[in-house]
Amino acid sequence: MVDDYIKFVELIYDKSGIDLSQYKEKQMKRRLTSLRDKKGFSSFDTYFKALDSDETLLHEMLDRMTINVSEFYRNYKRWEILKDEIIPGLAEGKPSLKVWSAACSTGEEPYTLAMLLSDFYDLNNVSILATDIDENAIQRAKMGLYPERSLKEAPQDKINKFFTQNDKMFTVRDELKQAVTFKKHNLLADSYPKNVDLIVCRNVLIYFTEEAKSTIYSNFSKALKPNGVLFVGSTEQLFNPSSYDFDVLSTFFYQKVNK
Ligand SMILES: C[S@@+](CC[C@H](N)C(=O)[O-])C[C@H]1O[C@@H](n2cnc3c(N)ncnc32)[C@H](O)[C@@H]1O
Repeated sequence: MVDDYIKFVELIYDKSGIDLSQYKEKQMKRRLTSLRDKKGFSSFDTYFKALDSDETLLHEMLDRMTINVSEFYRNYKRWEILKDEIIPGLAEGKPSLKVWSAACSTGEEPYTLAMLLSDFYDLNNVSILATDIDENAIQRAKMGLYPERSLKEAPQDKINKFFTQNDKMFTVRDELKQAVTFKKHNLLADSYPKNVDLIVCRNVLIYFTEEAKSTIYSNFSKALKPNGVLFVGSTEQLFNPSSYDFDVLSTFFYQKVNK
């Protein structure tokens, strides 16, 4: 008999185009089983039948499979390395940079990138593509409204310059917003941008199977210009960077070899 969960994965793929089989099975199954139980279904079969005809249930399920946790300047020291050691080399002689924040969640990461690039470029010349599979997250990112805690690692001068504060909520100012373009994009299914100078993709690859990760690294390598840089998250270091034409610049930073 086909496992109830495996069948569910197939049905969700047919319905939404989202391939749960490319996410680590143990973790994903645990997350979805707990939601399913909470909703009062004892099998994935009955759960699918219900969400097949109930958009709210479906969206709740998709919301559970995407983990949207993020914050501005997450792991602050790595953003310092990006600013002090990586961007100067990338920006040399270039009037602008093509930057992609992949799996950007609710926008903290691409807005951080825009603030950081404002030290190198006029923001009118900065254009960051920010993508995520989750449309709700993208809507929130476009709104640009954040609680104080998500800015706890952000430098005070940048907060003063790029946010307006209303009580305990902070709104991204238009000059920062206009530097970022948000789009829906599935890293496992959609085509990748080309000729990118810098790809930032953090804290999503950990959820994928080894095969899926390998395909994504290889797609990132193809998406980058020669000498372009990939910035990954904690515990997402590449096992064998040279097989994707990457040199290690520093932990978490990989440069596409120029050949
Ligand atoms: C933990 S957040 C990471 C946010 C940000 N990069 C950071 O490090 O703070 C993971 C994001 O990956 C997104 N995601 C999950 N699967 C994806 C896929 N197949 N394609 C694109 N984004 C995906 C989720 O929707 C979620 O917003």
